[in-house]
Amino acid sequence: MVSRRIKDLSYAIRDVAVIANEVKKSGKKVYHLNIGDPIIFDFMTPEYITRSMVKAALSGKNFYVDSLGVDELRNEICSLENHKNSINLKPDDILVTSGVTEGIFFILAGLMENQNEILIPGPSYPVYINYTKFFNGIPIEYELDENNDWEPNIDDLRKKITDKTQAILICSPNNPTGALYSKKEIKDIINLAGEHDLPIISDEIYDQIIFEKEYSCPASLSKDVPIIGLNGFSKAHLATGWRLGYIYYKDPDNKLSNLKEGLEKMARARLCANSIAQYAAIETLQNPGPHTEEMVRKLKERRDYSYKRLKQIEGLNCVNAAGAFYLFPKIDFKEFPKWKTDKEFVIDLLKKTGICTVYGSGFGVHGKDHMRLTFLPEIETLETIYNLLEDFLK
Ligand SMILES: Cc1ncc(COP(=O)(O)O)c(C=O)c1O
Repeated sequence: MVSRRIKDLSYAIRDVAVIANEVKKSGKKVYHLNIGDPIIFDFMTPEYITRSMVKAALSGKNFYVDSLGVDELRNEICSLENHKNSINLKPDDILVTSGVTEGIFFILAGLMENQNEILIPGPSYPVYINYTKFFNGIPIEYELDENNDWEPNIDDLRKKITDKTQAILICSPNNPTGALYSKKEIKDIINLAGEHDLPIISDEIYDQIIFEKEYSCPASLSKDVPIIGLNGFSKAHLATGWRLGYIYYKDPDNKLSNLKEGLEKMARARLCANSIAQYAAIETLQNPGPHTEEMVRKLKERRDYSYKRLKQIEGLNCVNAAGAFYLFPKIDFKEFPKWKTDKEFVIDLLKKTGICTVYGSGFGVHGKDHMRLTFLPEIETLETIYNLLEDFLK
């Protein structure tokens, strides 16, 4: 026996990993371009952060901590967000979660029921789709326009607002496209949300991983439209496995007070986020090291190399990434009639070459005919990967 809710869950990013394991068992080397985890490559969690986690454990901080997060960490996060985005949060506006993933789970638990709707970007990070359905809501994808650097199509978004819409979700820098929403588009979304009295959910997990365009934070552009922000320590602080993130509320008119209270109940019901990771995070925020800058520098080189190689391949068309660590090329099936769908293409690529990517249709209807690849490996590995890809397509 298993509930329909669970049976219907799918997560392409990890689903391809199952096939990758079979390929590995057959003795073939697998190149993991499917998972957005820098730590499995040559990016290390900075030693001083790891030491502070060990210190916290050795000094006995292995107990349940406050459900809303350790006070000192909430203070530090509050100062960080206020400084980064010129906003004016109070520590009480912060809820520490087990990664952004748990934050998304909480927010959707708080907003979705009875087939009501949430507007999410399309293509979409699959977690938004999964959890919305899990809580009996309907994910409605507004178009990110590939012909316009994957910027959100505001007319499409406007058309999709109904009396069942509960919120508009923004993910910038974006997974899977690598796009940054421009300031103008974010302002337009805020205005639309204001007209319809909707909150904005802003997933900012990649806000520190930006290559050239300027990052615009919805909370810093909104006067009174409530913003529910999400961020964490997985990417910028290279601690994916520690599972630590947070929700912040910018809500000057207290429109979110019921939701906020509800999410605090959710937090208490699951006891707390990882205690020792929270103590390490305090250290990280008090003594920010050079690791984020260093990572962005390396990633930019790897992005440039990957983009250059992809552009040379007839039949793959790619918008360059402005942030995060993903490229999302379109596969021209006229050029490659051997394969019929993106899933077929990606699985065959994996079986023949060991290159593990994710099929675009795993990111919702707008992802069809694409594939997502990370540019996390070192250049020498990327070189091998793109040589294999070229041979495969020949
Ligand atoms: C857009 C987006 N949000 C959230 C997450 C998950 O973040 P966390 O590790 O904090 O749960 C990811 C991970 O890849 C992501 O791409």
